[in-house]
Amino acid sequence: MQTARIEEVIGEFVLLKRKGANYMGLSPFTDEKTPSFSVSVAKQIFKCFSTGKGGSVVTFLMEKEHYSYPEALRWLAEKYNIELPKEEEQTPEQIAAFTERESLQIINEFAKNHFMHNIHENDEGKAIGLSYFVERGYRKDIIEKFQLGYCLNSGHDFTDAAKAKGYKLEFCEKVGLVKSKDDRNFDFFRGRVIFPIHSITGRILGFGGRTLTNDKKVAKYFNSPESIIYNKSEILYGLYFAKGEIIKYDNCFLVEGYTDVISLNQAGLTNVVSSSGTSLTKDQIKLIRRYTQNITILYDGDAAGIKASFRGIDLILQEGMNVRVVLFPDGDDPDSYSKKVSTHELETYIKENTKDFITFKAELLLNDGNSDPLVRVKLIHDIVNTISLIPDQISRSIYSKEIANRFEIDENIIVLELSKIRKKEVGKQFTEPEQKTIEQFNQNLVPGQKSVQSTQASKTKIEYFEEFNLIRILVKYSEYLIEIEHQNEKGETILVSTSACELICHELNLDELNFENVTFAKIYGIINEGIAAKKVYKSSFFIKHEDQEIVKFVSGIETDQYELSHNWLTKHNIETKTELDNLKTCVLDAIYSFKMRKILNRIEQIDSELIKLEALNETEQIDFSITQDLIMEKVTLLHVKAALAKVLSRIILH
Ligand code: CTP
Ligand code: MN
Repeated sequence: MQTARIEEVIGEFVLLKRKGANYMGLSPFTDEKTPSFSVSVAKQIFKCFSTGKGGSVVTFLMEKEHYSYPEALRWLAEKYNIELPKEEEQTPEQIAAFTERESLQIINEFAKNHFMHNIHENDEGKAIGLSYFVERGYRKDIIEKFQLGYCLNSGHDFTDAAKAKGYKLEFCEKVGLVKSKDDRNFDFFRGRVIFPIHSITGRILGFGGRTLTNDKKVAKYFNSPESIIYNKSEILYGLYFAKGEIIKYDNCFLVEGYTDVISLNQAGLTNVVSSSGTSLTKDQIKLIRRYTQNITILYDGDAAGIKASFRGIDLILQEGMNVRVVLFPDGDDPDSYSKKVSTHELETYIKENTKDFITFKAELLLNDGNSDPLVRVKLIHDIVNTISLIPDQISRSIYSKEIANRFEIDENIIVLELSKIRKKEVGKQFTEPEQKTIEQFNQNLVPGQKSVQSTQASKTKIEYFEEFNLIRILVKYSEYLIEIEHQNEKGETILVSTSACELICHELNLDELNFENVTFAKIYGIINEGIAAKKVYKSSFFIKHEDQEIVKFVSGIETDQYELSHNWLTKHNIETKTELDNLKTCVLDAIYSFKMRKILNRIEQIDSELIKLEALNETEQIDFSITQDLIMEKVTLLHVKAALAKVLSRIILH
């Protein structure tokens, strides 16, 4: 990371122009027209102001190329001719030394190869696994491409192979390949054909295993359990193979299952993905959005398929993307239909049956020209509800025109109805946008600006801000000295000089406090240990950290173009000087606000415990000493709270 020049690396992806001390360019993460992407040479960090992304040169490669941390390092090593230690032929000790994530991926890679090997080299595998795929009509090249496999029925074949290779069974269990019962281990996927699930860069994150029996009592698919590498709501089956094609056609076909993806590929439709083992999620749609704005849902025409497509339409529109729908004749899914017809016929069918969502709903719900007014009213309400989910106002207004024309209603009525629904919904739907608001808030606040959000923010968000502010100050000003009053043994007040990080850590350690936010807690842990070892860790250290959450946070506060007002949380609208001029006040305010929040939380917790105990008391005998302890604790906390409030108001009015 010392050799890599961020401006050089990013320059390979983005046309950068010098602007003062920085470089500017068009963000590679959006299709913006005016440059908002900035690279700081001095700090060796980048910031994309339209998406909020930022971090080190490694973060950039991870975001842009979807590399893992080691993959990004490998890329840099290659560019700068740095030799890396050999990775092949590792001893089990070396493997154990890998991070857990790496280990799990290595085991999955091994398993994929093992299962593939089975269908090509093993007698049972050939006779059962391979012939299943061949009977389904899968071509050799397609079986290869999707790396399909088979897990032998013995129940211990894979487990034995993994053991022999020196892999920890504990890790095999974590990725769900091995199960244990009464001290015995067995293969989770035994007797099933295997569909490996790839990450965007082609690593194996998990598996789907289909049973070969028709027994209705046996689950058709087993899927890998959630693990640190497998989060099914954020993974799309087939995306690794499809991403280039999705960009090329500027459209993504979305189907329901593994076999649909594979069959459509075989028929020549390659821009296809499916959610695996879950119904479609928001995160999956966001994944697609990296490559295109357009999704075409290809579902089965049965009742379940129609229901799923209605849900899909709403989710996709909500993410601001365009959605079209194709239903296959009832009883057929893309898999079965693609096998009945030629590629040309399949393409023609899709072309002729692709419908925008309004037409789709209208045709389905109107049952071929049903003119019953009640049915029409219900339908229009239904469509207007769906349109209300679209974030972009211009799109909403275009669709309003469309319904007005189609159903011959006054457009103003539709617009009015839309605004009514949106007003009602705004209160409910804010969780995610609010998350964004917090980020924007952190990015764009100017000195002395009264924060609109904080007045609306819920308690947890305020707590986040307080943690955010304290850790920000801790990282940013760790080595700066502050003079504080201190009472010596003789009881005299003297001035002592201490670094900001020592003061903050000392204060938190006194009360055994820590951060709730995981990333903040990690940073705090590092700084705290540093103090014990007489080391000061500054932002330049954290920028190179492996944990990208840390890098993102630290580079975020480094690119701030503003200084947060120290009293921004308290809604006082006092003009502030810059933080450095006022560092002592800033630090103390951040510490005490942090403590105050912890106290308020604890008091609230005690209150709810007391209420519970009281309710319990009505039905059964309870131990009153618990109640008493809680009340005592609360009284103490109230005293501290009052004292803190005094200190805080002194600091703020200072
Ligand atoms: N699925 C699952 N568990 C099940 C059934 C289905 O996880 N018990 C998921 C799988 O990801 C599957 C998708 O839902 O691919 C669609 O289900 P289905 O249409 O039943 O499976 P297909 O993949 O079409 O398999 P096949 O054609 O062999 O029936
Ligand atoms: Mn099917």
